[in-house]
Amino acid sequence: MREIIQKLEEKRAAARLGGGTARINTQHGKGKLSARERIELLFDEGSFEEWDMFVEHRCVDFGMAEQSVPGDGVVTGYGTINGRPMFVFSQDFTVFGGSLSESHAKKILKVMEKAVQVGAPVIGINDSGGARIQEGVSSLAGYADVFLQNVLASGVVPQISMVMGPCAGGAVYSPAMTDFIFMVKDTSYMFVTGPDVVKTVTHETVTQEQLGGAMTHAGKSGVADGAFENDVEALIQLRRFMDFMPLNNKEKPPVITSTDPPDRDDYSLDTLIPDNPNKPYDMKELILKVVDEGDFFEVGEHFAKNMIVGFARMEGQTVGIVANQPMVLAGCLDIDSSRKAARFVRFCDCFNIPIVTFVDVPGFLPGTNQEYNAIIKHGAKLLFAFAEATVPKVTVITRKAYGGAYDVMSSKHIRGDVNFAWPTAEIAVMGPKGAVEIIFRQDIGDPKKIAERTKEYQERFANPFKAASFGFIDDVIMPHGTRRRICRSLQMLKTKDIKNPWKKHDNIPL
Ligand code: HXC
Repeated sequence: MREIIQKLEEKRAAARLGGGTARINTQHGKGKLSARERIELLFDEGSFEEWDMFVEHRCVDFGMAEQSVPGDGVVTGYGTINGRPMFVFSQDFTVFGGSLSESHAKKILKVMEKAVQVGAPVIGINDSGGARIQEGVSSLAGYADVFLQNVLASGVVPQISMVMGPCAGGAVYSPAMTDFIFMVKDTSYMFVTGPDVVKTVTHETVTQEQLGGAMTHAGKSGVADGAFENDVEALIQLRRFMDFMPLNNKEKPPVITSTDPPDRDDYSLDTLIPDNPNKPYDMKELILKVVDEGDFFEVGEHFAKNMIVGFARMEGQTVGIVANQPMVLAGCLDIDSSRKAARFVRFCDCFNIPIVTFVDVPGFLPGTNQEYNAIIKHGAKLLFAFAEATVPKVTVITRKAYGGAYDVMSSKHIRGDVNFAWPTAEIAVMGPKGAVEIIFRQDIGDPKKIAERTKEYQERFANPFKAASFGFIDDVIMPHGTRRRICRSLQMLKTKDIKNPWKKHDNIPL
């Protein structure tokens, strides 16, 4: 018996070494942790239960019969993050470059399927050379099986991808179908075709980092929702992020007891809006002052900065924040900001997370670039997402809410549950100057008349009271009481229950 146990221990020790000490050292030399070290950092101490440690590939081609490593390049199982269950797969670059074989794919599928059955999130740590070249079509089949499971799990349990090494070719499409992608600066990259192919086909010369590094995707393409400095920071932040996540689509968002009083007033908000309506201010200041303990996890911080989205808590409950940022492009809606916010709103709606929207939007960004690249379709995504969402929706208009963008930004008309405006709000078809120049074109040569008309327009529309008189705004509130009013609204909305008409699925303008 003792001998058998000894054998098991030896087998386990061998499996834990993956591709061996030398390759682990190489991994460390690149500034990367090993697959197991990442799991240790991510999960609560001692909580990880590993599965399929002894799985090996079944390939016999290209000398593979003689090369087998227990675990086959991916560590899988489940554990807890701050006491809540989560599943994980962590690709081990030290074993065949973390490449995906038939067996490797089966291990991933096993945790994904169980995660859906028990209702717990899946975290995928990607560090792989892609399809296991020696296995040919079997490994492509393995990828396709994972893709399918990504789609089936979408909207059932949160799926998070942490890209911590190479992720190239068709392999990118598994993370692409998950809810959030985070990357690590300098050590991770994602692209459909690498720099060599790019050079051959388009004659462009780019480095891996320029083509698909963390900041390329976090800042330029918007494929990544965040870029971290190194593995340790990434995993610590991922733990923080997972605390905001519900476990599945049947759960209410998690509540973490907060010591921040729900009725806390903040008088500095009464002077946040500058006297000059064309002067920007930082919307993040408002967010940080309103949410519990100023704790805000921003998603997509470096992309489409004219729109802020992220997770926070109100009275301990997770909420999704969507806000225009007047500091960038005056906070207007464009293609990127619409895409970014639409996807975020849909995530919140999938997972029962109430949405708090702060509005200061002068309209859609004009221009041929926007029109030729389909702002009509992309803007419609955000409109569609807000309109179809059945989670509690609380909206606060701080300043401008002009034109179609007013309708889009979780207005009363698309089922905003509680819509507030600050006294500084201006709710109108457009700003006073533009409006007067159109409807009083005949007076353009007469500055006195134009000034009079502008004043008249301002008095009528550059305030929240016209909208409030129609009931489109439920109340005009003091800025300092914003937190209190939102908390009360969310409390009241806790039992909200509405359903959209039955359909197979909708047809959001993609
Ligand atoms: C088998 C692989 C592998 C792969 C790497 N290795 N990628 N083995 N299949 N796809 C092995 C290497 O042979 C090497 O083994 C070890 O992993 C480490 O690789 P290195 O090249 O030494 O590492 P590095 O210099 O860091 O380069 C990493 C890399 C490079 C850039 C990822 O390995 C690479 O280009 N690999 C091939 C990538 C690729 O073309 N994949 C297919 C993409 S198409 P030894 O024994 O020497 O240490 C794809 C399709 C998916 O994935 C389809 C979905 C529909």
